Amino acid sequence: MEVKVKKIALLGMGTVGSGVYEIIKRQKQELPAKTGCMLEIDKVLVRNKAKYASVVPEEKLTNHWEDIINDDSIDIVVEVMGGIEPAFTYIKEALTKGKHVVTANKDLMATRGHELLEVASAHDCDLLFEAAVAGGIPIIRPMKQCLAGNNITEVMGIINGTTNFILTKMTEEGMEFKEALQIATDLGYAEADPTADIEGYDAGRKLAILASIAFHTQVTFDDVYTEGISKITSKDIVYAHELGCEIKLLGIAKLEEDGIEVKVHPTMIPKDHPLAMVKDSFNAVYIHGDAVDDAMFYGRGAGSLPTGSAIVGDIIDIARDTQFRCTGRIGCTCYKQIPVKHMQDTHSSYYIRMKLVDRAGTLATLAGVFGENQVSISKLLQTDKEGDTAEVVIVTYDVKENQFAKAIDTISSMPMIKEISSVIRVVHEE
Ligand code: NAP
Ligand code: HSE
Repeated sequence: MEVKVKKIALLGMGTVGSGVYEIIKRQKQELPAKTGCMLEIDKVLVRNKAKYASVVPEEKLTNHWEDIINDDSIDIVVEVMGGIEPAFTYIKEALTKGKHVVTANKDLMATRGHELLEVASAHDCDLLFEAAVAGGIPIIRPMKQCLAGNNITEVMGIINGTTNFILTKMTEEGMEFKEALQIATDLGYAEADPTADIEGYDAGRKLAILASIAFHTQVTFDDVYTEGISKITSKDIVYAHELGCEIKLLGIAKLEEDGIEVKVHPTMIPKDHPLAMVKDSFNAVYIHGDAVDDAMFYGRGAGSLPTGSAIVGDIIDIARDTQFRCTGRIGCTCYKQIPVKHMQDTHSSYYIRMKLVDRAGTLATLAGVFGENQVSISKLLQTDKEGDTAEVVIVTYDVKENQFAKAIDTISSMPMIKEISSVIRVVHEE
């Protein structure tokens, strides 16, 4: 029997594109059995053709989008260029022409993904983006399909490998942030401009996508509070250990009675929490659903083949859907409109490290200010002392962000407080 060929156009042939290219090559023999058709990369769009001449045959390479969008034989467009434009326009045009799309582009999906999903739905097309969150870890499909019988109430994730690598180096080798960042850069984890990773923007984009799927509500990157790891010191990590915790950059999305919380920030998390054990550049996403209880997904959050693995999985899904004429089956799942809470209305427990004048009454005054702002102290450690200055570490119970901010504002202007050295949110085991 003649096996149909499905033609694919790759937009981009960098880290992820080359992984997809390699996996399709490796899987060539098995794809007909898996999908009922042959999958063939027919065109590859890049800017600089010469750069790719040794890996992609000349006749497949193009630097003209028109060669792809005007080619009716192309069934699936795989966008792995990155950025908002021209990626948005290319994906929209492809869907409008009835081509199915796979993308790894979290920047785009976290800002304009909902618009693109509408276009896909209007044209009965698949728009799949498993690789956009946590690279090779299956998480979008599990949430949309396997966990569809749950009300998901919480998603917590280590969804940026670069920062997890840096924090692991700081934890295990006592390094300071800058030294660990340099190693992450030398090893190719951190980009030349690492801002998006270390300031939490990359994790924030992924969290917006996860929260939208978990809570069936459109959440965009603008809704997410982000705070990075550049102020974390090795001293805080030592104190975290004294308190039985590790410090991780967590993306936290929670469904509360009065709305959705979405935030990315460094977090002290108990050492025996499964997320505390996720090291190096690995990612993990921890989910709580009312039926499944807790579930954790762990693996490689980036890299050529791991990310390519997620994309080829999406391509195979599309090939199967077209084979059975059921494309457009699972589109946008945002059928609710739950409000997203302002950060100041959310709650956290806090760790505060500060230097203060070591004399009678200082702690009492401090406790007074905390009390006036409904900040209740759960733990207090007085540690180093130098001359008349003592270092104190306080952990609070859960408090509303704006009340905590008011307390910190007040104490930071008091002469007895010499320095507020660091403030880190704490997650307790429930
Ligand atoms: P990359 O290595 O920088 O590769 C980008 C590729 O796209 C290059 O081949 C580039 O071609 C091409 N390109 C960029 N802009 C183009 C344009 N306007 N027209 C034509 N070609 C264009 O990027 P990457 O790391 O593979 O990332 C691609 C996407 O995957 C991004 O959205 C990223 O966020 C996402 N992602 C990446 C990873 C990862 O591990 N890297 C993991 C998950 C998701 P030229 O070289 O000719 O400019
Ligand atoms: N820069 C990301 C990370 C990988 O460090 O996890 C791409 O999503």
